[in-house]
Amino acid sequence: MPGSVPVALGCVREHHAELTSTNDRALAWARAGAVHGACVTADQQTAGRGRLGRRWDSPSAGGLYLSIVLRPVGLYATNWSPDWAGLGLAVGLGVRAGLAAWVPQAKLKWPNDILVDGRKLGGVLCEMRWQGTVPDAVAGIGINVAQQTFASDLQATSLALALPGACPTVGEVLEAVLLGLAPVLDQFFTAGFRAIRPEYIAHSAVLGQRLTVAGRVVTAVGFDDDGALRVSADGHGPGWRVEAEDVWLLAQAPAPPY
Ligand code: BTN
Repeated sequence: MPGSVPVALGCVREHHAELTSTNDRALAWARAGAVHGACVTADQQTAGRGRLGRRWDSPSAGGLYLSIVLRPVGLYATNWSPDWAGLGLAVGLGVRAGLAAWVPQAKLKWPNDILVDGRKLGGVLCEMRWQGTVPDAVAGIGINVAQQTFASDLQATSLALALPGACPTVGEVLEAVLLGLAPVLDQFFTAGFRAIRPEYIAHSAVLGQRLTVAGRVVTAVGFDDDGALRVSADGHGPGWRVEAEDVWLLAQAPAPPY
C-alpha cells in the first residue's frame, strides 16, 4: 500500500571527527551499497559545500553536518517514480518540522534555505550520481547550531543566537531532524511534491513576496507539481517557472551570496 513503508532514517550511521564533506562520504557509501536511510555526520568538514558551488562553513562542533543516503526506487509500493527535482524542498520541509520545537517561526526560502527571523539557519544540498537509470541520491543538511559568528555569511544565524541560554546540542538537533524528515519523505516518495505542497506553502518565506530573480523584480505566485517556483511580474496570472536560480527577497539587504 502506498505510504506503508516507514522511512528508517538513521538505521545505519557513521560519525567522523572530520570529513571533507559528509555528502562526499555518503555518495561513496551509496555507491558501495549503503541502504536507504544510512546517515553520515561529522564534527567538522574541511570542504563543506552549498548550492551553486558555494562554501558551507563547517567549524568543529559548530553545527549539524548530516548526509542521508536515499534509495527509494523499488522500496515504495507505488507506480510513481520520484520526481527528484522536488526532493530538496521535501528535505527542507522535514528539517523545518524537526526544528519546530525550538524555532516554530522557521520558514523555507525556496529552494533550499531554512530561515529564522529572516536569517539563514540552515540549508539543504541534494546530490545524485546515476548508475544506469537509478540514482544514488544523498540529502545533505547543514544547520548552524552553536556558532556565534560566521566567516562568510553576514545574514546567517544559529540556534544559539536564536535561543540564548536554551540551545540544544548537535546530537539533539540530529535526532529531531531525523524524526521531522521521516514522515515528510514518506509522503514525498509516495506521492510527490504535490502531496506536501499545502504544508510547504504554509511555511514558505517567498509566496506572495516581491523577489529578484535573475535581475528582475517579480512576485512569487505558487509552486508547480514538481516544486518549481512560479513567479509573475505583477503578481497575477500564471507567470513563469523558475527552476534553479537564486531568488532574493526584496526585504533582504543585497548581501553577498550565501
Ligand atoms: C546551501 O545552503 O547552499 C546548502 C548547504 C548544505 C550544507 C550541508 S552540510 C552537510 C552536507 N555536506 C556538505 O558538504 N554540504 C551539506
